[in-house]
Amino acid sequence: MVNIKHLDFSYGKYDVLHDVNVQVRGGDFWAVIGPNGSGKSTLIKCIAAILHVKSGTILIDGKSSVNYTANQLAQTVAYIPQTEKGDLQSLVFDTVLAGRKPYIRWKPSEDDYGKVADVLHQLGIEHLSMRYVNALSGGQQQTVMIARALAQQTKILLLDEPTANLDLRHQLEIMNLLKMLSFNGLTIVMSLHDINLAIRYASHVLMLKDGGVLVSDLADHVTQTHIENLYNIKVEMITNGDVRYYVPLGVET
Ligand SMILES: Nc1ncnc2c1ncn2[C@@H]1O[C@H](COP(=O)(O)OP(=O)(O)OP(=O)(O)O)[C@@H](O)[C@H]1O
Ligand SMILES: [Mg+2]
Repeated sequence: MVNIKHLDFSYGKYDVLHDVNVQVRGGDFWAVIGPNGSGKSTLIKCIAAILHVKSGTILIDGKSSVNYTANQLAQTVAYIPQTEKGDLQSLVFDTVLAGRKPYIRWKPSEDDYGKVADVLHQLGIEHLSMRYVNALSGGQQQTVMIARALAQQTKILLLDEPTANLDLRHQLEIMNLLKMLSFNGLTIVMSLHDINLAIRYASHVLMLKDGGVLVSDLADHVTQTHIENLYNIKVEMITNGDVRYYVPLGVET
């Protein structure tokens, strides 16, 4: 569980996040959406404790993130940054094994190797195990990054735009995978730009605008007006069975 209370963050004098309050429960799948520069990456980095909160608190399983040791935090929260591709010169197997680092004292144990094998199998990428990461497609590299994060065996997974640069099929595959992982109890907070993917796959949506929370609710509760206010555009909703799609119509003047 991640409980964010009255979070403010600034880079020096430049204020970015103001009074962000969110309660993420175990097994929730939150999509953080909002315009470029609205603070999505900053919020995710604050939760990952890469950035240090100036005011407010972030409780992870009831304990302030600042009271975790680096190793305790690495066993609780996995974070995949916006541009992370891993060490491109490494084999896929070694990259995923690096996710075991918080558990390894001086050399990997049989359990560590076993966990890597399990994760490669779970994600269906055993056949890539002895390939170099830089010889993979963008979608395969993203899957390897998720595999490394899963090998870390954390309760919470943070991902910053994991579907950017992926084709439609790989976007759906990654979203399906994340949804399945959240059904199995993993708590997920991810940022993305595709409002339709967010609503379709995530359980909850956090809309950030200019560093403040515009909407924090179940994905099913998102409305056309929310989206129009978030981006200052006109959208039209179309439905196909249970799935709602928002199509941008034009920029409001
Ligand atoms: N290291 C930094 N130093 C100073 N300002 C920063 C830094 N990183 C981000 N910012 C500023 O903070 C604001 C929020 O940036 P952030 O990266 O969190 O936005 P974002 O919502 O993730 O955007 P995008 O959709 O483009 O990824 C922006 O105005 C950005 O210029
Ligand atoms: Mg970002």
